[in-house]
Amino acid sequence: MFQLSEEGKEFVKKQLARYEQKESAIIPSLYRVQDENNGWVSPEAVDHLSQLMDIPTARIQEVLKFYTMFNTEPRGKYHVQVCTTLSCGMLGGRELCSTLMKEHGVHKHGEVSKDGKFSFSHVECLGSCDTAPVMQINREPYLESLTEEKALKILKDLK
Ligand code: FES
Repeated sequence: MFQLSEEGKEFVKKQLARYEQKESAIIPSLYRVQDENNGWVSPEAVDHLSQLMDIPTARIQEVLKFYTMFNTEPRGKYHVQVCTTLSCGMLGGRELCSTLMKEHGVHKHGEVSKDGKFSFSHVECLGSCDTAPVMQINREPYLESLTEEKALKILKDLK
């Protein structure tokens, strides 16, 4: 059963105190849960957050399902999000994602590679269109102006 660490609970309490409306604390709290739960937010984690924040689970689920940066299924240690919107799409974002998936034996989005290291998804514009194609791994800074060769090497170098 998922429980936030003591530091995590403290973080959520601070977020609740920070905003006039406690619903505003849902996003930062979901990030914290995701960080402490191997990259995804399970139904148990939502129940835990609901009790901690005194907000109905349905309200938390709404936020969780609306934003693509939250994962509702287990992810690899490195969740690779490749932008496939206009500029990135035109400069090979989809093909790039397919190449990376193939290299790691992943057949569909959401699937985790056998070694548990990688999962992949397409995402909407990351707001860095002038450096397309762009990808992001977990919550790290964007990786920009990618080529297939560059992206394959980036993943290869991840431990
Ligand atoms: S289209 Fe990819 S960052 Fe905007």
